[in-house]
Amino acid sequence: MWPDRRLLDLFKTEFPIVQAPMAGAIDTDLVIAASQGGALGSLPCAMLSVEKAREQISIIRQRVSAPVNMNFFCHKAVDADPNREAQWKQRLAPYYKELGLDPATPINAANRAPFDAAMCELVEELKPEVVSFQFGLPDPALLKRAKAAGCIVMSSATIVKEAIWLEENGADVIIAQGAEAGGHRGMFLTENIAEQPGTFALVPQVVDAVKVPVIAAGGIADGRGIAAAFALGAAGVQIGSAYLRCPESKVIAPARAALAQALDDSTVITNVMTGRPARAVINRVMREVGPISPDAPAFPHAATGLAPLKQASERLGKVDFTNLWAGQAIRLGREMPAAELTRALAGAALARLSQMAG
Ligand SMILES: Cc1cc2nc3c(=O)[nH]c(=O)nc-3n(C[C@H](O)[C@H](O)[C@H](O)COP(=O)(O)O)c2cc1C
Repeated sequence: MWPDRRLLDLFKTEFPIVQAPMAGAIDTDLVIAASQGGALGSLPCAMLSVEKAREQISIIRQRVSAPVNMNFFCHKAVDADPNREAQWKQRLAPYYKELGLDPATPINAANRAPFDAAMCELVEELKPEVVSFQFGLPDPALLKRAKAAGCIVMSSATIVKEAIWLEENGADVIIAQGAEAGGHRGMFLTENIAEQPGTFALVPQVVDAVKVPVIAAGGIADGRGIAAAFALGAAGVQIGSAYLRCPESKVIAPARAALAQALDDSTVITNVMTGRPARAVINRVMREVGPISPDAPAFPHAATGLAPLKQASERLGKVDFTNLWAGQAIRLGREMPAAELTRALAGAALARLSQMAG
């Protein structure tokens, strides 16, 4: 038996496991499979248009009757600064040259947009059971509308102060995202990467600070990690990296190979891929330009200058400029279908929890 049933009652899923939204790395296939396996499936919408998000939710709804989470970014959008863009292009110029690309060619690459009125209308139309946000919460008027549509609201906290802010500003569930986590740091009240606590330290302190249920995220990839999260007071877990090697993920073959070879010390936090700190398996541009660079333009504009390099390099079967978002427990991930993986994770966690109780 799960020691805490609050999320099961709230989400009405079989397991208190959230399959993490992972923009660019997964779409409907993995969401469907993870929810068929008993997790809360999360569709990353940060890089989708309204039309594409509607289409993807419709595919999910046709295939599963389980609840669904739509995930958005809610950073403050800033216009690209032409000076910084030019500086960044200059920094990347040797790579453009190497790959035979003209740095002067305008770039028209899809990038990450914050949750806005149009997406909010879509949420009102589709009424997902859950919406989750990264980088705080959206404008209060939009948040109110999402809540009025009946959505349970979740967001990530990377320090206790953020967890308290999220609770005070309307989050129904808080995801405590430890420094081990793959992908972007959800930080929004701090910019200091060096101060970010790990999951083991963060979860119990967040649990003590708020009344809403807390989901542990970061470095959890097997039954032991899930059981530990419950021991620390979490009501559930959000798991990202462990799903990346599932056949349903959209990770391209050379990136899959890099993830398969990654060890406990293969990831670092970098800002060069998008302009915001994120944890990834180190690649060439992170090693040579970063992992942290003051030249990287503000989020998400750093990704724009990299887009042509990524495309050209991937055509050669390389991931020198590709986001290899992954957490410190990437090595524990297994190559198995996501439904099976979800059930295996839940089964192993329940076995471990009953051992601990007995
Ligand atoms: C490939 C990848 C992409 C991610 N993209 C998102 C995203 O779009 N939205 C979000 O809220 N979190 C995103 N995250 C962070 C996850 O929600 C979660 O915090 C993290 O995966 C937990 O740590 P773990 O990777 O060690 O399981 C991403 C993580 C990864 C690994």
